[in-house]
Amino acid sequence: MDIFVLLCLMFTATSAAARGVAFDPKAVDQWFESLSYAKERVTKLHFYFHDIAKGKNPTALQIAQSNITSKSSTSFGSLSMADEPLTVGPELNSTIVGHAQGMYGSASFSEIGLLMALNFVFTGGEYNGSTLSLLGRNPTSKEYREMPIVGGSGVFRLARGVATAKTYLFNVTSGIAIVEYHVTVLHY
Ligand SMILES: *[C@@H]1O[C@H](CO)[C@@H](O)[C@H](O)[C@H]1NC(C)=O
Ligand SMILES: *[C@@H]1O[C@H](CO)[C@@H](O)[C@H](O)[C@H]1NC(C)=O
Ligand SMILES: *[C@@H]1O[C@H](CO)[C@@H](O)[C@H](O)[C@H]1NC(C)=O
Ligand SMILES: *[C@@H]1O[C@H](CO)[C@@H](O)[C@H](O)[C@H]1NC(C)=O
Repeated sequence: MDIFVLLCLMFTATSAAARGVAFDPKAVDQWFESLSYAKERVTKLHFYFHDIAKGKNPTALQIAQSNITSKSSTSFGSLSMADEPLTVGPELNSTIVGHAQGMYGSASFSEIGLLMALNFVFTGGEYNGSTLSLLGRNPTSKEYREMPIVGGSGVFRLARGVATAKTYLFNVTSGIAIVEYHVTVLHY
């Protein structure tokens, strides 16, 4: 991605400014100039993701499907839009640190293999207003799934890293999945 495109993306970032991080174009320019003195650091995050596909207060809604989805053993072609709470502990009533907003769709004919395109939008503490973008493949029947973090905003500008997901609870009847995420990112 060339620097012009990157800057344009940052100019259009809509999330609130993180503490100490201004999102205006001049501040972004100054931030880039300061990078030659900056050292990359590693940040590790841990949270639980709550996917509720049924009931009164769903966090993910199916928005499209193909004409073979209902007959497909992998629900191929099903696409959902989600705004899911991220919490410190596995209980939905534990402290919320952000939301996962985006889409996931069934993209494999042979096994459950989701295409995940999500933004983690953080609201807690020093990460308030900063985001990380995840784009990857999620074979949900596997114990551990690894997905790339392809970028970020706010304190996570120019981030890249890895998210590992592990199902903590899955109940087909209630449509509830709780997934434990460990995210490790390199950023400035
Ligand atoms: C699905 O739609 C395609 C394109 O319109 C059509 O060719 C195909 O026959 C349809 N398949 C089924 C199972 O309805
Ligand atoms: C949170 O939920 C759990 C069960 O889901 C319950 O045992 C606990 O009392 C709840 N805590 C609060 C503070 O509501
Ligand atoms: C996060 O930022 C928003 C907007 O700047 C502010 O209203 C909110 O109180 C902040 N939350 C925390 C936990 O700092
Ligand atoms: C799954 O959810 C259903 C409906 O809420 C509930 O009756 C059932 O006890 C749950 N199963 C487990 C193993 O928690």
